[in-house]
Amino acid sequence: MDSAFQITLLPGDGIGPEIMSVAVDVLRTVGLQLGISFEFQTALVGGAAIDGTGHPIPSVTLDRCRESDGVLLAAIGGPKWDNLPAHLRPEQGLLGLRSGLNLFANLRPAQILPQLLNASSLKPDVVDGVDIMVVRELTGGIYFGQPKGIFTMESGEKRGVNTMAYTEGEIDRIGRVAFDTARQRRQKLCSVDKANVLDVSQLWRERMTLLSTEYPDVELSHLYVDNAAMQLIRCPKQFDTIVTGNLFGDILSDCAAMLTGSIGMLPSASLGASPPGVFEPVHGSAPDIAGEDKANPLAQVLSTSMLLRYGLSQPQAAMAIENAVLSVLNQGYRTVDIFSPGMKRVGCAEMGKLLVEAIGNG
Ligand code: IPM
Ligand code: MG
Repeated sequence: MDSAFQITLLPGDGIGPEIMSVAVDVLRTVGLQLGISFEFQTALVGGAAIDGTGHPIPSVTLDRCRESDGVLLAAIGGPKWDNLPAHLRPEQGLLGLRSGLNLFANLRPAQILPQLLNASSLKPDVVDGVDIMVVRELTGGIYFGQPKGIFTMESGEKRGVNTMAYTEGEIDRIGRVAFDTARQRRQKLCSVDKANVLDVSQLWRERMTLLSTEYPDVELSHLYVDNAAMQLIRCPKQFDTIVTGNLFGDILSDCAAMLTGSIGMLPSASLGASPPGVFEPVHGSAPDIAGEDKANPLAQVLSTSMLLRYGLSQPQAAMAIENAVLSVLNQGYRTVDIFSPGMKRVGCAEMGKLLVEAIGNG
């Protein structure tokens, strides 16, 4: 057997620990079956890290992550930490992890499973067959641009500032990830910007257009972000791969996620030029149901499948997990967020047991 993959676990806050425990059981099971071994170490991030160390992303956590082959993150944040000063809030843990590991590419798939067609708030015929990959730039743009801050002007009035900026290099590297992703899917890439107003978007559009000459097999289109938001709701099937900047990607990936009915189903991968990547559900820490065994662990479990596929190059193991998820859904098991009449309602831990069984039978 090859040496074990070192995986850092960041359970974080709220429902994080419950869904992480399911994901670890699932990983161990699939590993046993396919002869892949994992060594897990847990570290603090978000509110848990604030409570434990006073900082949302302690340097020991970053070091542990850097030394590992992949990082599995659950969720961070909660009302307990909402009134802290901005630089000490749990969200800074997430942003610090992204920039500290240089995870510039965020892949957020939104796929409608036929089993959950009725969970969407849109009409079934609008969402049936939707399969979108949002490629979001994650370490630049207005989230990190300088200058930023709240400044006091001469008049004494305060002024809040953030800066949306992208260099050619930053645009090209996320562009390449997006074109490569589209190439492996249905060869359609839509770049989303606000080039009718923003200079930064004009450069974005220019570089994407230039890059497209290297990818003649991929059809590139452009949309303004307001129109893209509308088109996602009007006719989501027109999209295959979407590439966009940090802020637009934040917003559009939530829109795309909700097409599927529950954000509780969606995984994501944050990748840099080399491992480790960070793999995490798109949803948050759901403090209102934390500790009640109600959470849907499937986004976390599907994030482990992204870890296997994109982080550890273990596509067979990734597929085993995806098949187990489909099998459990086909048997009618649902957590409360995706429950509909006639289905079998289960809690988080029970869903985990069913997945482990399904992998065993797979
Ligand atoms: C996300 C979240 C984060 C973001 C927050 C929690 C900082 O909304 O991952 O989409 O804005 O990127
Ligand atoms: Mg978001």
